[in-house]
Amino acid sequence: MTKVIFEITEEALESGLRGFPVGYCTTSKVDPELGLHYRGKAVREFAHFKPEEVMYCIMEGKLENSSPGFKTFCGELEKRAPLHPKVKEHICKLPRESHPMKLLIAALTIMSPFEAENKYPEDCLNVIAKIPEVVAILINYHAGWGETPPSNPKLGYMENFCHMLRTPNVQDKKVFNEVMRLFNVLHYDHGGGNLSTFVGKAVASGHEDMYGSLAASMCALEGPLHGKANQVCLAFLQEIHKEVGDKVTGDQMEALIRKRLDAGKLLYGFGHAVLRKEDTRATLLCEAGEKYFPNHPLVRIGLLLRERAPKVLSENPKIQDPYANVDLMSGSVLSAAGFPYPDYFTVLFGLSRIVGIARQIVYERCEARGGKGTPIIRPKYLYKSA
Ligand code: MLT
Repeated sequence: MTKVIFEITEEALESGLRGFPVGYCTTSKVDPELGLHYRGKAVREFAHFKPEEVMYCIMEGKLENSSPGFKTFCGELEKRAPLHPKVKEHICKLPRESHPMKLLIAALTIMSPFEAENKYPEDCLNVIAKIPEVVAILINYHAGWGETPPSNPKLGYMENFCHMLRTPNVQDKKVFNEVMRLFNVLHYDHGGGNLSTFVGKAVASGHEDMYGSLAASMCALEGPLHGKANQVCLAFLQEIHKEVGDKVTGDQMEALIRKRLDAGKLLYGFGHAVLRKEDTRATLLCEAGEKYFPNHPLVRIGLLLRERAPKVLSENPKIQDPYANVDLMSGSVLSAAGFPYPDYFTVLFGLSRIVGIARQIVYERCEARGGKGTPIIRPKYLYKSA
């Protein structure tokens, strides 16, 4: 007998598929109370690991750093990193007037004819190996920071990215690299149903190649309700800082939150579709803010908001999740580390999330249903006369 997993009620229609199980995700899970887990391990456990170690765990389900399998994986990333020269040439002709996310979407499409092997598992590794150089070229070009230094994958995945990025404001390179590493490993994957991942898998279900599928997923990530929330949130922290200055106390912040909500204004950086506790990624970024930049004005504003807003928000019974999400602190920590360029925050999110989406595409195309793969996505819409 077929097991009933979920009853579909009328209220569930036109609700963004919220809570509908549509398949399996083998790489990560978002538990409402316990937060994000990669391959069954809480994301906190990965907070101090190298990107290669975390990626290998997402790829293979094993957290190892000296096994032959791990060494082969690192070797493959190095071997596959060199970018076809045409990719760089074409990226550097894209319109600089566009938001950099549009350039990332275009860059993935440009990669297809030069880089695609048209085998999902191969292209998963290829794109992960090459994307740091693509993003570094794209940002340096868009920002007008000049020629990108030659890639040196031997430095390590994110160290190489930081070496290629010609950001001019870095005071402490070690802290900058550390913040970039943390941001990167925390954004790899977030279950199977976040919008960009779902869209990438849906497009791949029509057998579009890895690069086109990821370009589609980056269109989904660009929206301010999804990946661009980090950029929006930094603008919000800056607005609050302008209003209250550096010396604001917790009580003054609480009063400001109430005033804002009473005026019908939004509070960015709080709440999540699935989570019902503080997002562990937010907790880890807050800890990094407290550790490295306790006196940075935007970090301070973010920490005060995190302390006071949940209390005020939870007074509203309609708010299911009053806690900080990943976007609250990510922009202020990046800014404090020497990357105060909000237009590129979503691109950094994309650089990371491509890892999880690419791996989930491999699962759906090559491993699901005993290796047959999932069929083309084709949900049913009920006809309703207008
Ligand atoms: C994410 O990391 O993708 C966001 O938290 C959004 C989501 O999970 O739906």
